[in-house]
Amino acid sequence: MTKTNRRSQPNLPSPLTPPAKPQPTPSFLSFPNFNLLSSSPKQSSSAALDRNYSLSHRLCLSLSGELPDDIAPNWDYIVDNPGECLAYVFQFLGLGDRHRCSHVKRLEGKVALITGAATGIGECIARHFCKHGAKVIIADIQDEAAHSVCKDLGPDFATFVHCDVAKESDVEIAVNTAISLHGKLDIMVNNAAIVEDPKPSILDNNLADFERVISVNLTGVFLGTKHAARVMIPAGKGSIISLGSVCSSVGGVASHAYTSSKHGIVGLTKNVAAELGRFGIRVNCLSPYFISTPLTINFFKLEAEGDGQPRVYSNLKGIHLQQEDVAEAALYLGSDESKYVSGHNLALDGGFTTINPAFGLFASAQ
Ligand SMILES: NC(=O)c1ccc[n+]([C@@H]2O[C@H](COP(=O)([O-])OP(=O)(O)OC[C@H]3O[C@@H](n4cnc5c(N)ncnc54)[C@H](O)[C@@H]3O)[C@@H](O)[C@H]2O)c1
Repeated sequence: MTKTNRRSQPNLPSPLTPPAKPQPTPSFLSFPNFNLLSSSPKQSSSAALDRNYSLSHRLCLSLSGELPDDIAPNWDYIVDNPGECLAYVFQFLGLGDRHRCSHVKRLEGKVALITGAATGIGECIARHFCKHGAKVIIADIQDEAAHSVCKDLGPDFATFVHCDVAKESDVEIAVNTAISLHGKLDIMVNNAAIVEDPKPSILDNNLADFERVISVNLTGVFLGTKHAARVMIPAGKGSIISLGSVCSSVGGVASHAYTSSKHGIVGLTKNVAAELGRFGIRVNCLSPYFISTPLTINFFKLEAEGDGQPRVYSNLKGIHLQQEDVAEAALYLGSDESKYVSGHNLALDGGFTTINPAFGLFASAQ
């Protein structure tokens, strides 16, 4: 990107720095003062240039969240800094930093049911989906936390249903709630999961603990998938997303029950994708690496370091996976942008499950 001289335009945000305060989200096409731009003094430029200028300018205004006192566009700045203005256009169209693209609602008109969305990754997905125009049903066993998320998102966008995913009647009611409130279910996110206390020896693992984890993590996904399919099949479309893990494809990271349940989700995803494709329903799995949430804090008992984050191995130097990254991937799988993606296990692990860092050509470089 062109290095810019910003002296003459103190209000223009840098494309690399998000706006300092939450911004209103005027629609691109209905941007209020768009018409007025045509009365700018530099309309004598060629039509093509004018079109680019007005696009860039609308973008600058909407991204900065401020209209200048004087409606005259910043033509000098735009003429001097075409590269930066173009960057705003790319960002606006969703080709740049996602935090700058709040105007593009990728789930407008869609209805999503998210299990385990009272906290952690599920909550983050619910918030991200709402930001992108979806109505969400939050299905969880933590009533208070879930109510608080719904209150925050607003009654027009979020509804809570108490639901234990291991109980078929609860899951059935949650799916029926989406239909009775919104008439449809477009996206099902099977996110709820638990992990038992870590016991490194299989000899100490008891049957009840194993079955409890399987009943929530795998049976819960089966029930969520089944009841979502029940209402998606007549609609002839839908996207089902289940949260796997790096434990879906490698061993040795977490407990036997958790690892078994997460491997099972990938098998279930592939099998159901094979069945439901003929109804236009896509079924995918999303498999993150470590993120600090109540689930992992309890299991791994890791100490937070200076930046508040526990230190864990990452194949990607200096980058740590965040809940927002998982929400963004769920957004992709839930939106029409992934319209030909089905039966896939999307790993969000920086390469963790596809490489062996312990031995090989690159091991000595660590
Ligand atoms: N955090 C990570 O590092 C990580 C990594 C890979 C995969 N995952 C997966 O991501 C998903 C979310 O995990 P998280 O880290 O946000 O966990 P979390 O503990 O923060 O959230 C789990 C949510 O599920 C809910 N829940 C638990 N049992 C339930 C049940 N029977 N019925 C309905 N809801 C129930 C909890 O109340 C909670 O709101 C899980 O599937 C987990 O396996 C997490």
